[in-house]
Parts: sequence; C-alpha cells; structure tokens
Amino acid sequence: MLMPLFVLSALLLFPLSLQQLAAPAPSSTIPSAAPSTSTIPAEAASMVNPVKPTTESQAYARKMYGYDCAMCHGDKGDGKGDLAVEQKLTTKNFTDPAALKAMTDGQIFYVIKNGEGGQMPGEADRAKTNDIWNMVILVRSFAKKPM
Ligand code: HEC
Repeated sequence: MLMPLFVLSALLLFPLSLQQLAAPAPSSTIPSAAPSTSTIPAEAASMVNPVKPTTESQAYARKMYGYDCAMCHGDKGDGKGDLAVEQKLTTKNFTDPAALKAMTDGQIFYVIKNGEGGQMPGEADRAKTNDIWNMVILVRSFAKKPM
C-alpha cells in the first residue's frame, strides 16, 4: 500500500524541483540555461489576443514599456537596455522580425505577465490583462516600424 503513494508523491514533487533547479540563482552572472518557452502551459500558449489596439492603448503600453521594460529590452526593443548590458542578460532583439516569430501571442503574454527565467520580473501585479495584451502588440510592433 505504501509504494503507490510514494510513487505518486515523487511524481508530484519532481516537476517542482526541476523548476527550482532551472532558476538561475545569482541572475547577474549565470545566463539562463534553457529558453523557457517550453515551460509555458499549452493552454496559455494558444490564447488569442482579444484586444484591438487603439492609438491611446498603444501610447499607454509604450509609456509602461518605458518604465518597466526598456531598462532591459532597450527603448527601441533591441535588447540593449542599460540593465541588460550591465547584468549581461541575453534577450532577443525585438527589432529583428525573426526574433519573436516562433512565439505565439499567448506565449508572449505569458512571459510578460509571469516573467521569465528568474531574470525578468512579471507584470502580473501591476498591469491589467488588457494592458498586457497591448504590450504584446507593442513588442511585436518593434519589428515593424521605427518607434
Ligand atoms: C530585469 C530585466 C528585464 C525586464 C525589466 C523585462 N525583461 Fe523581458 N526578458 C528579460 C530576459 C533576460 C528575457 C529572456 C529570458 C530567457 O530567455 O530565459 C526576457 C524575455 C522577454 C520576452 C520573450 C522573448 C525573449 O527574449 O526571450 C518578452 C516578449 C519580454 N521579455 C518582454 C518584456 C516586457 C514587455 C517587459 C516589461 C513589461 C519586460 N520584458 C521586462 C529581461 C527583462
């Protein structure tokens, strides 16, 4: 009777410990090992952006980006923000159309909301859902037009 219980708890505990191992401890020195899009739940990845951007909502997203993202991802989304350079963080160059091509809107939403790889803080506590969707649109727009 004890055996199945043990196996079950091992199964439950294993993914947790894996995640803890994957999180780099001093984020300033160790680059994150794996691109963590693989840890994004499938149902989150397949979410469709419900937001129709307006000039106002994009202007607001741009403003929030300036406060919360530009120090790492750069004002123009090129990944060369001061903090990223200083901490040697590797981020994609959003101005390159290939950079986010493989990511769905849902995956980008998930990363902005929850953060990534222990190196990027999430917006969950400070931005509304629709604001995050507008940021997804903004982040994609870096590859389309000069900001
Ligand atoms: C402290 C630095 C930091 C801040 C602030 C930050 N990010 Fe990131 N972000 C990163 C790093 C580092 C990665 C790459 C993580 C990885 O690959 O494991 C990343 C990944 C991403 C990705 C996925 C594509 C990629 O490069 O892997 C998107 C999209 C993104 N960030 C958008 C944003 C937005 C929008 C904001 C502001 C709301 C933001 N980030 C704030 C550091 C940051």
